[in-house]
Amino acid sequence: MSNPRSLVDTQNSFGWFSIGLHWFATLAIILLWFVGQSISWQSVEQIDARRTLHITIGLIAWLPLIARIIWRYKSGHPHVSGQTLLEHRLAKAAHHLMLLVLLVMLISGPLTAWAMPDHSSLSEFAFIFHSNAAKALAMLVVLHILAALKHLMFHEDETVARIFVPRKDATQDEG
Ligand code: HEM
Ligand code: HEM
Repeated sequence: MSNPRSLVDTQNSFGWFSIGLHWFATLAIILLWFVGQSISWQSVEQIDARRTLHITIGLIAWLPLIARIIWRYKSGHPHVSGQTLLEHRLAKAAHHLMLLVLLVMLISGPLTAWAMPDHSSLSEFAFIFHSNAAKALAMLVVLHILAALKHLMFHEDETVARIFVPRKDATQDEG
């Protein structure tokens, strides 16, 4: 971490900023997913409290999650050495799809909550997006983890390592 440039991404490496945002977002999304899913399992007396817990965590994590999406679009996608252009584009498309679904969740969640008391049909409409996006994101994350495991087991490359620490030989120019 001595090199301040390792804070930001370069052409072949994620910086600490991207790495921190990736793992913060992972924890927040997993927590929000389980708390959100558990709302409907509650008894009538408990359901409001569980919904409020989900909304509170969602609002606390909202800004960093939005920042994480904007940062990825602004900062680009570092190239894994040895990866073909097609593989690079496929990985990039899969990551962008996850971020798009995340954006849908971050808009539809607050809308569901805001419209709940006075605009129940708008709330129900937003909830359809929120609920289906939650399922889609869960499936994409499972595929994403399987892809990471595939790299870990069958490819001798740095794909998994580079989302934990920046490369020592990171190129100096930003990616
Ligand atoms: C990545 C972020 C989020 C994830 C993964 C997530 C996940 C979920 C899940 C799985 C459900 C249950 C869906 C169902 O029953 O089919 C849910 C419901 C809900 N979420 Fe989220 N959520 C996120 C963000 C937010 C945010 C930011 C807000 C608002 C600030 C929010 C507000 C709500 C509300 C109001 C419900 C409906 C609760 C009910 O059943 O009455 N969510 N969420
Ligand atoms: C245990 C869970 C997870 C593991 C093991 C994991 C693993 C990885 C790995 C190895 C990379 C690097 C890929 C590359 O070098 O091109 C990566 C990047 C990425 N992951 Fe995950 N991931 C996890 C959870 C998530 C979740 C929940 C999301 C949901 C949004 C996500 C979205 C992304 C995105 C968008 C990237 C591109 C870089 C970035 O913007 O952070 N990951 N992940």
